Amino acid sequence: MIRIFLTLITTLMLGFSASSYAHKDATGIVKERMDLFKKSQQDIKALYSSIRSGELEDIKTNAVALATWGAVMPDYFPKGSGGGVSEASAEIWKDFEGFKNAAKTFELAALSVVDAVDQDNNEALIAAAKSTSNSCKSCHRKFRN
Ligand code: HEC
Repeated sequence: MIRIFLTLITTLMLGFSASSYAHKDATGIVKERMDLFKKSQQDIKALYSSIRSGELEDIKTNAVALATWGAVMPDYFPKGSGGGVSEASAEIWKDFEGFKNAAKTFELAALSVVDAVDQDNNEALIAAAKSTSNSCKSCHRKFRN
């Protein structure tokens, strides 16, 4: 029953994200980063569902995918790539160090998920997963319009 309920929630969330982020007019690097952000949204959902089902290898695969994206994310924000259909805030280029730090925080949070699995520490795992999703939100608060 719980599983059916969770599946339903995930389906609703997917439906929601597909319609609210339909940026069909984006091109070039902006389109590329939007696609990667969308993929990261799938990855973090997959991370949470692998935690719920206790699939340790899947937890690690999803966390590594997120960390890998965090490591290259700033490269997808060259100067002048804001405006138009992009929701990137001008704050990114005013404070590029701050933006890079926010991407780093996200990368390290995702890597701490892998560490928690390796240490077989459930509490640390939950905390690490939470700090990963918090790092998405806090970057959005500061750097996304
Ligand atoms: C370091 C900052 C940062 C982090 C960390 C971050 N985001 Fe974002 N995100 C952005 C910015 C900036 C945009 C706007 C990009 C644009 O429109 O050009 C964005 C856009 C998005 C979008 C919309 C994509 C589209 O099609 O327009 C989604 C979905 C998203 N992020 C999900 C996530 C998720 C999930 C995480 C964590 C797993 C995350 N983001 C982590 C900065 C970040």
